[in-house]
Amino acid sequence: MHPALLAPSLLAGDHANLASSAQRVAALGLTWLHLDLMDGHFVPNLTFGPETLAALRRAGSTLFFDTHLMLSEPHRYIEAFAKAGANLISIHIEPAYDHAATLARIRSLGCQNGIVLNPGTPATAIEPLLELVDLVLVMTVQPGFGGQSFRPEMLPKLRQIDAWRRERNLTFRLEVDGGIDLVHAAECRAAGADTFVAGTSFFRATDQAAYVAAIARL
Ligand code: DX5
Ligand code: ZN
Repeated sequence: MHPALLAPSLLAGDHANLASSAQRVAALGLTWLHLDLMDGHFVPNLTFGPETLAALRRAGSTLFFDTHLMLSEPHRYIEAFAKAGANLISIHIEPAYDHAATLARIRSLGCQNGIVLNPGTPATAIEPLLELVDLVLVMTVQPGFGGQSFRPEMLPKLRQIDAWRRERNLTFRLEVDGGIDLVHAAECRAAGADTFVAGTSFFRATDQAAYVAAIARL
């Protein structure tokens, strides 16, 4: 089982000074940063683009950029995000495009890959791709906005994907994203998750060091 890993979501950081928010994450000894890319089409919101990742790199960030593409046509932007400094690029299963080919292209550009499911998408939708991925991201809210409530009905989906992982001796990470706090992270850990995206609960924590330590103990 992978050790528990915290990936703070920059969406909840300071958008007037994203570099300082990334620096804060690194200063706490964390290694991953979750970046949410939205196109106003696949989800009803907009965030930032590849130039933002490149600017964070120029500002000196060496964090592992866990790049979550909430785009209707993610396959059109893989090169741009790889070139901008992404380390992992995750793509949703819901839009129609060649998922397997896009996952392969992400790896061919030197990045890890991930496949993502919305709350309404059953685990069976990604089952045929499990041999091809470095990470499975189970959305625990409907994507588009930070600060929503965790959906406990996603726990059986985590258990199912974790069971397939064990049965097939696979080693992909199992990530959760949306409404995660220390209580829900523990529930997800018990259901098989090992990688925890946290926006609001991390950036608003009164004691971020204690928060980081609590995740590490899961
Ligand atoms: C939601 C994004 C999340 C978001 C999570 O569409 O994918 O990464 O930042 O934010 P919280 O932790 O506030 O739910
Ligand atoms: Zn995300």
